[in-house]
Amino acid sequence: MENLITLVNKLQRACTALGDHGEESTLPTLWDSLPSIAVVGGQSSGKSSVLESIVGKDFLPRGSGIVTRRPLVLQLHKIDEGREYAEFMHQPRKRFTDFAAVRKEIADETDRETGRSKQISSVPIHLSIYSPNVVNLTLIDLPGLTKVAVDGQSESIVMDIENMPNCIILAVSPANQDLATSDAIKISREVDPKGERTFGVLTKIDLMDKGTDAVDILEGKSYRLQFPWVGVVNRSQADINKSVDMIAARRREREYFANSPDYKHLAHRMGSEHLGKMMSKHLETVIKARIPGLQSLVSKSIAELESELSRLGKPVAADAGGKLYMIMEICRIFDGIYKEHLDGIRPGGDKI
Ligand code: GDP
Ligand code: NA
Ligand code: MG
Repeated sequence: MENLITLVNKLQRACTALGDHGEESTLPTLWDSLPSIAVVGGQSSGKSSVLESIVGKDFLPRGSGIVTRRPLVLQLHKIDEGREYAEFMHQPRKRFTDFAAVRKEIADETDRETGRSKQISSVPIHLSIYSPNVVNLTLIDLPGLTKVAVDGQSESIVMDIENMPNCIILAVSPANQDLATSDAIKISREVDPKGERTFGVLTKIDLMDKGTDAVDILEGKSYRLQFPWVGVVNRSQADINKSVDMIAARRREREYFANSPDYKHLAHRMGSEHLGKMMSKHLETVIKARIPGLQSLVSKSIAELESELSRLGKPVAADAGGKLYMIMEICRIFDGIYKEHLDGIRPGGDKI
């Protein structure tokens, strides 16, 4: 199953790398058909914290205000052993082992695109993390909604998600605010009214007023989604200032739920680790269901590229021909891999 998700990660990466080239190619369609997970919610609801705890690493720029101004497409790759490292698509051969430098590069690359205007851009930054301590996942960190819509920002986020019909939505709401006013729920309601691809994540449970609890929300009684809600306790700003590490934070989170009289009965399905596993499992199900469709898409891409190439005839401009050739080669490789994977599926069995 890991192979399968790794494959999709690769394919997704190839599709976007190629997105820069053939404007008329069918590859963007291919990209759109692959599943990923987008994290949405209001400013400071805890989106970056949730992402970081799924990854198990501190690397996202944080702070007050709109820190995330470009979508971050984050691909997690589980490796068997070795030291973890990160790579940006815009700096292919540079390996980052210092995650503080990763954070700085995200900020710098954001500014390179937007200038110092602090504008929001829809051009994504692609980051891959290779680590023994992650599950294979593709996550997208979108700029948060601000209370005051800046330049139609909220509209554009909703549009982005609408344009990614296969995108699973990780809707982050803080427990210390009224769920009825949650931006995450607002977005989810708009793009996924039936709650079919929304996972509700409730943060800041530790910050709720004394005498109140989140049991109704976590049991799905306040806002119904098809998937069970997951409550998390991320690091507070004070923890971050004191450099409380991820391992300690996770242990504390586990203890929080296990020892709480309110949440004890839900403890087995609470917390960041559980969330990561749930996401991975869900993604696997989605990918498996989609393999035949993906395969025909890849074949279709090859056919279309071939006819495009022949339509161009012999005197093809060197660069255009080269790009098409490269795209075709990649399609061929993926097509082969897909066949391999398809062959592994036995009727009635789920072994791949
Ligand atoms: P984002 O703007 O949605 O990406 O939110 P961040 O992840 O940057 O979090 C905003 C602030 O809330 C930070 O100071 C976090 O430390 C804090 N925070 C996030 N989640 C929790 C939580 O579960 N408990 C507590 N106590 N603080 C949290
Ligand atoms: Na923030
Ligand atoms: Mg953030």
